[in-house]
Amino acid sequence: MAQLNTRKKKNRVGQVLLFGTIILCAASLLFAAWLLFVPNSFHHFQTLDRKNSTVQTDSQSDAISSRRYVAVLEGNTVQLVGLEAERWTSNDESVATVDMYGNITGIKQGRCKITGDKGDTYQVAVRKLEIREGCTYVDDILVVNKTYSLPKNYAPGLEPIAKDAFLQMQDAAAKEGQQLYIGSDYRSYDYQVQIYNNYCKIYGWEIADTFSARPGHSEHQSGLTIDCNTIDDAFAETSEAVWLAEHCAEYGFIIRFPEGKENVTGYKYEPWHIRYVGIETAQEIQRYGLTLEEYLGVMSEYAQPWQG
Ligand code: DAL
Ligand code: ZN
Repeated sequence: MAQLNTRKKKNRVGQVLLFGTIILCAASLLFAAWLLFVPNSFHHFQTLDRKNSTVQTDSQSDAISSRRYVAVLEGNTVQLVGLEAERWTSNDESVATVDMYGNITGIKQGRCKITGDKGDTYQVAVRKLEIREGCTYVDDILVVNKTYSLPKNYAPGLEPIAKDAFLQMQDAAAKEGQQLYIGSDYRSYDYQVQIYNNYCKIYGWEIADTFSARPGHSEHQSGLTIDCNTIDDAFAETSEAVWLAEHCAEYGFIIRFPEGKENVTGYKYEPWHIRYVGIETAQEIQRYGLTLEEYLGVMSEYAQPWQG
C-alpha cells in the first residue's frame, strides 16, 4: 500500500514536471516570436507633428548650424520663423527673394545669401525638382520618402556606388576595431509589400507608418540605402553606431532618420539606416546638422491615409 502511494506520488511529480516543461517551452516559443516580429524600438514610438512650410530657426532641438541653412524649391516659398529682424535682403534676387516677414521664395536653381538687419545671415539653396521615368530628383539627387515614391518596376538591386562606398567604410571601421556589416540593403517593391503589411497587421497602419515605409516609398528600393548591423534601438548604444554617425559622411552616407527630426523625415530615429548621397553632399548635410528633406527643401508626408 505504502509502495502504491509512493508510486502515485512519483507519477504526480512526473506529471507536474512534464506540464511545467510544456508551459516553459510554449513561453520560450512565444518570446522568440515576439523578439522576431516586434521591433525593440516599440516603446519609443513618437507622435509625429504635422509639418508646415516654415523653417524653425530657434528650436532647441535643431543643431545650431542648421539655423543658417534654408533650402527651397523653385517656385516655392518658406518662412523663417522665430527671428528678430525688421528687414531682410537677398544678395541675389534672381535666385531667391525675401519679404519683410522673412518669406523666402525660390526663383531659380542656385545659391544666395539672405541677411537680416540684426546681422543674421542664411545660406539659401534654391533647388530644382525634376521627374524622370516616374522617379523624383531634386538637384539630381533621387528622393524617396513619404511624399515621393518610386515606380513599382524600379529594381536596381544594391547600387555598385553604394556597395563600394560601404566596403571602403567597413574596411576603415575595422581598422579602428569597429565591425560594420550589412543587415539589410536593396528591397524590392514586392518585398516591401510583405514587410509593411505584416507591420500593419500587428500594429495598424498609423503606427506602422512611423517606422516602416509603404511599398514604393522605401529608400531600400532605391538601392542606395543600407541598414547597418542590427535593426534595433540598442544599436544606438554601440561603439559601431557612434563611429558610423561620425564617419559615414566621409564615405558619402548620411544617417537618414536622425534623432529629433521625426517631424521632418516622418520616421522615428534609425541609427542603422544610412543613405548614399555622395561625399560632398553628405558632408554638407552633416556640417549643417540637416536631414535630406531640409537640405533639399522637400516634405515627407503621405497624401492619404493607408487604403489597405
Ligand atoms: N524603415 C524604413 C523607413 C523603411 O521601411 O524604408
Ligand atoms: Zn532601413
